[in-house]
Amino acid sequence: MTSILVLHGPNLNLLGEREPEIYGGVTLEEINRRLEKAGQALGLEVRCFQSNSEGALIESLHAARAWAKGVVFNPGGYTHTSVALRDAVAAIGIPVVEVHLSNVHGREAFRRESLIAPVCAGSIAGFGWRSYWLGLQALADLPG
Ligand code: DQA
Repeated sequence: MTSILVLHGPNLNLLGEREPEIYGGVTLEEINRRLEKAGQALGLEVRCFQSNSEGALIESLHAARAWAKGVVFNPGGYTHTSVALRDAVAAIGIPVVEVHLSNVHGREAFRRESLIAPVCAGSIAGFGWRSYWLGLQALADLPG
């Protein structure tokens, strides 16, 4: 079966209690459950992983090239700072869709820049947990 990695970056383990007026009230566990279910309907195995550590996120991206068709990736705050994550995305040779729960373009100026977006297949922001769902749909429709 075709497999997809859903990768969550720093502070996303606190979803549900973290600034719910910005990020919504759905927990990470619940988002993962919904994505696994959505994947089943699309004939995709969805594997989810979260880390607050840049190195663990890089390791996870490297490992994914051996088993995943693509990655739905919310890099959290690293979106705006991490050259190393950008390089990992560029290196792995499988499509990565960058997703954000909030509309990063309508918030502080520093959130408008993504170091990751230029090396991704595309980006989705502003639709709450459904940004991940849209990312999954986009990957499902890519050839290969
Ligand atoms: C976020 C947006 C980032 O700017 C922020 O640092 C996050 C969450 C989002 O999903 O909206 O941690 O990636």
